[in-house]
Amino acid sequence: MATRERWATRIGWILAAAGSAVGIGNFLRFPSQAAKNGGGAFIIPYLISLVLFAIPAMWVTWWVGRYGGRYGHSTTVGMFHRIARSPVAKYLGVMGVAFPLIFSIYYTYAESWMLGYAFLSLTGHYNHVTDFSVYFNEYQGVLATGNYFATPLIPWLMMAITLGLNLWVLYRGAAKGIELLAKIAMPLLFLFAIIMAVAVLTLEPVRGTVLDGLAYIWSPDFSRLGTFSIWLAAAGQLFFSLSIGFGSLECYASYAGGEKEQDIALSGLTTASTNEFVEVIFGSLIAIPATAVFFGAAMVPELAGTFSIGMIAMPEVIREQLNVYFIGTVWFLLLFFAAFTSSVSTAEPVIAFFQSELGLDRRRAVTILAGLWILGTVPTVLFNRYGMVAQLDFWVGTLFLVVMAFVEVVLAGWVFGIDRYWEDIHRGADIRIPRIFYYITKYVTPLCLAVILGGFIWEEVRGGFPNVMPKPFIVEGVANLRDFPAKVFWEEDKEVQRKLNGTLQARVQEMKKDFRVLSVLTVQDGKVQDIDWEQMQNADPEILDTVRAKLERRTYEMGGKPLSGRLKLQVDGYYVRPYVYLARVIVFGSYFLFAFLVAFLWTRRWRE
Ligand code: ALA
Repeated sequence: MATRERWATRIGWILAAAGSAVGIGNFLRFPSQAAKNGGGAFIIPYLISLVLFAIPAMWVTWWVGRYGGRYGHSTTVGMFHRIARSPVAKYLGVMGVAFPLIFSIYYTYAESWMLGYAFLSLTGHYNHVTDFSVYFNEYQGVLATGNYFATPLIPWLMMAITLGLNLWVLYRGAAKGIELLAKIAMPLLFLFAIIMAVAVLTLEPVRGTVLDGLAYIWSPDFSRLGTFSIWLAAAGQLFFSLSIGFGSLECYASYAGGEKEQDIALSGLTTASTNEFVEVIFGSLIAIPATAVFFGAAMVPELAGTFSIGMIAMPEVIREQLNVYFIGTVWFLLLFFAAFTSSVSTAEPVIAFFQSELGLDRRRAVTILAGLWILGTVPTVLFNRYGMVAQLDFWVGTLFLVVMAFVEVVLAGWVFGIDRYWEDIHRGADIRIPRIFYYITKYVTPLCLAVILGGFIWEEVRGGFPNVMPKPFIVEGVANLRDFPAKVFWEEDKEVQRKLNGTLQARVQEMKKDFRVLSVLTVQDGKVQDIDWEQMQNADPEILDTVRAKLERRTYEMGGKPLSGRLKLQVDGYYVRPYVYLARVIVFGSYFLFAFLVAFLWTRRWRE
């Protein structure tokens, strides 16, 4: 058997776990979710959910890890097997190896955008960018307009570096790799977050103030407490952010064993509190106030996609009001370090599986992981414009987190037994958990999780399967930005545009092909005079008519004045269906691969 991984110090272990939790989720996903779900309306369900199921599920997670660790298991496969002693349990545990692998693949890709943008800040690359949305779309390969990036060299290079750094840290092991990284990255992260918060608080009001942004999130709105989707969003955010349901914290807790029983009650709570502090304080002090200052509080919900707030709104605010070289670099390094400590934590269960279940040494385990990681990364990057990241995130970053947490809470409270669980979690504990959590863990948490799970499924069915069967993706951007010294805006009737996009989506769905239209608009005093088609791929008369209607119904402005000139707009439609299936093959294929390995291993053990 290979030697077991161990943390060097308790503080290092707690920092590593906090590093797993604190990530893109805290700095971008939280403000985005808060903004999209009504600001103050989101915070109350968020705080209630934190107590009712996030904290109890977090304790269960740590307990599962420590319990399994006692028997030499470092992944939920062996842990669930030990806890439940039923032949199916280990297959449920496979979720805690296969899904974090997929998570680390797309998460590390997003992490590489942060490293890329840190580099682009340091070199002042976006100092003269007029449209940050086109800039980001080009960086990700979603729009090939070629305004800012002639080749995909930088994105691919950054991806390779990010992957290399992750593998290097993982190769060095828990104590010398992950723990050391956390000891360096976490203090840096706090420093960077403080610099960012101070920079944002000193912003001069433009279309709003910092207080407008803070008021947007922090004015409680009780009227929408009955809106189910807000509760779902709050729950989804907590799982993602606290790293619950990944299999990572279980693995980390299993490395804490030793002669003496390690405390998990206080350690778990400390980690969760660190995460919540960073999320609620820094997550709401940076991106939303900055967006409110620059674009006005009314624009916050509109600009608040997870990545649009961080990669489109923030660079623009930084470029206009702060300093690209310094503050820009600090912002993106902050995001990069936050993501780095999380991505290693989601890859670790995979290595742990090869080490603790297959008995491989760390070098071999990391080599196999590297192969799988590269294999998954290539389609994720190549097909990102077909919504691969969103599709993978729906399965392993949303739905299965809840499934996994539900399984764990039921295992602890009902299969293992709440009394034994309660006694065991307090072994070696530095605190006593309030007795009320005994009842919450047994009854309230599983019930809440079941309702959330049902809610996710219900929302899918009710909404016409927006995540399971997403519609074709329509994207557009200005293709001749070099001709314009300022940003081009267009005023449009949202409802009309939504319908026209719906027509385009339906056509793409029928054709089963992507289309591309490069249109040359002659604009006079903000109104379209004439449209020429410069390039067309798979664009039939119906598509051209609809694109024409889209473009003609708008008023174009530049620098606040009606635009006159020749504007090139590229409109692309992506037929996403094959890639939806590909994402599913990746997610479920990886599950079955590991399930097969487990079946093989257990049969062999039994024979021996
Ligand atoms: N918990 C990690 C985050 O918040 C995954 O990004």
